[in-house]
Amino acid sequence: MDKTYFEIVKPILLHPEFQRRKKFMHHENESVYDHCLSVSILSYKIAKKIGANEKDAAIAGLLHDFYLNPWQESNKKSPFFKQHGFTHAKEASHNAKKWFPKYINEEIEDAISKHMFPLNPSLPKCKISYCVTIADKIISCKVLFYPLAWPKYLGLKKV
Ligand SMILES: [Fe+2]
Ligand SMILES: [Fe+2]
Repeated sequence: MDKTYFEIVKPILLHPEFQRRKKFMHHENESVYDHCLSVSILSYKIAKKIGANEKDAAIAGLLHDFYLNPWQESNKKSPFFKQHGFTHAKEASHNAKKWFPKYINEEIEDAISKHMFPLNPSLPKCKISYCVTIADKIISCKVLFYPLAWPKYLGLKKV
């Protein structure tokens, strides 16, 4: 990755609260930290290609799954539409504003809170939101190689 990319994300990437995500399992064999870094890099590249704001795309990608707790460790029973897949985008957006307020603007907030489109049906408003939601889907395709884990992602089975 180019130096400019790391200059953009460095303050967030090195922050202890973000570093904690190295211990949060997100998908199979992948921490939230690794997943968010991959999504951020791809969002940055897509944004550059389509002439969107690549700096904002990199930040939104990095914080798109900055939710509070490791979802795979939760034993809480929730109604279907209150499960992680439906709620974590808004949670990540609130948490990003709490920890990194000076890096968040309206477009980054839109990209984080709507990255689960179309599962969360509100339509993303900005170019960078589409960069992040597409990057997230491409990076998350890896779960297709783990069919035994699918029921967990569909909320049909606990870990
Ligand atoms: Fe997500
Ligand atoms: Fe994600």
